[in-house]
Amino acid sequence: MNVDALDLLATSVLLINEQGDIEHANAASEDMFGRSRRQLLGQQAAMLFEQPEDLKGSISRAASGRFADVRQSASIFRPPASIEVSVTSVALSGQPWPVLIEIREIEQRLLADRNHRLVEEIETHRQLLRNLAHEVKNPLGGLRGAAQLLEAELPEASLTEYTQVIISEADRLQALVDRLIGPQRVPLHAKPVNVHEVCERVCALLQGEFKNEIVLVRDYDASMPDVPGDAARLMQAVLNVARNGAQELALQPARTGEAPAKTLTFRTRVARQVMLAHRQHRLAFELTIADNGPGVPDNIKDRLFHPLVTARPGGTGLGLSLAQDFVQQHGGIIEFDSRPGCTEFRIVLPLESQ
Ligand SMILES: Nc1ncnc2c1ncn2[C@@H]1O[C@H](COP(=O)(O)OP(=O)(O)O)[C@@H](O)[C@H]1O
Ligand SMILES: [Mg+2]
Repeated sequence: MNVDALDLLATSVLLINEQGDIEHANAASEDMFGRSRRQLLGQQAAMLFEQPEDLKGSISRAASGRFADVRQSASIFRPPASIEVSVTSVALSGQPWPVLIEIREIEQRLLADRNHRLVEEIETHRQLLRNLAHEVKNPLGGLRGAAQLLEAELPEASLTEYTQVIISEADRLQALVDRLIGPQRVPLHAKPVNVHEVCERVCALLQGEFKNEIVLVRDYDASMPDVPGDAARLMQAVLNVARNGAQELALQPARTGEAPAKTLTFRTRVARQVMLAHRQHRLAFELTIADNGPGVPDNIKDRLFHPLVTARPGGTGLGLSLAQDFVQQHGGIIEFDSRPGCTEFRIVLPLESQ
């Protein structure tokens, strides 16, 4: 690793030795911590944060190589106030330093506001669509019934071709409308759910549907505790997100030679100090579903979780809106990040409150 190159980064990066001491600090970390590089070197990295114990834990876990990376939120006291940051501890292999930590400032309030706005916006849309769906549902039933009566009266059997079109289209619309009205808001009966089992069931379904077209990769945190939740709804949410990735990959031309295989990755991690729905949670569950497909089209990125937003031929645009709904019922959120070749959907659920 060329450590000088780290000075070109806008995020601050520290290289840490086995004892947790800072051996290298890039230029951006001088600004971040308000100290010169000389002051930073040789210090215990964890002591730079207001939660040294939490940080010590994740740095030593990364140093032991048990985890590829650990992301958590923390704060730094930079007079006159504390600033919220997101810290990622990365285990390095084959480098003189066992751990790299990256610190980014997060606009915590902005993030919470954005999530909150998103939730409200989606709820408004959903309500609107539900009302519309109810309006469509009743006349649809009448239409279908009338077509059936008409069919019985037709003088020529060949004419039923037309009534059949009416009936099957009415059925198709009916199914769409039912999905829009959505499952009744039955209260959530949370039980401990083993999320790896949920992921495995989703993988089995996708394997059946996509056969050898895509490679499924599991990167599970074996220490993950059970998540309180409704297994069926969580599974539907995971399936809706994962299936989109698989579908995008399957649409791509076959990759040959040097090109990386079409891969869908399921990664689970425990995250610390996560803000969800205006509440700070000590522990949260994070499932990242990543694919190396073409990415979410730019023109739908900011409305992706709204119902009926789709860029897929034959798509309904209901998958992600339902998934977001189910995850929000658990007090969590689905976020995403996408660029060509790397799309990540992250399902975050609260595990333990402060
Ligand atoms: N992993 C992904 N890669 C690229 N595009 C995606 C991905 N996931 C979702 N999308 C885009 O989001 C749209 C909405 O998804 P969704 O709500 O599940 O509806 P649908 O799958 O019926 O289109 C999709 O049509 C697709 O364009
Ligand atoms: Mg879908």
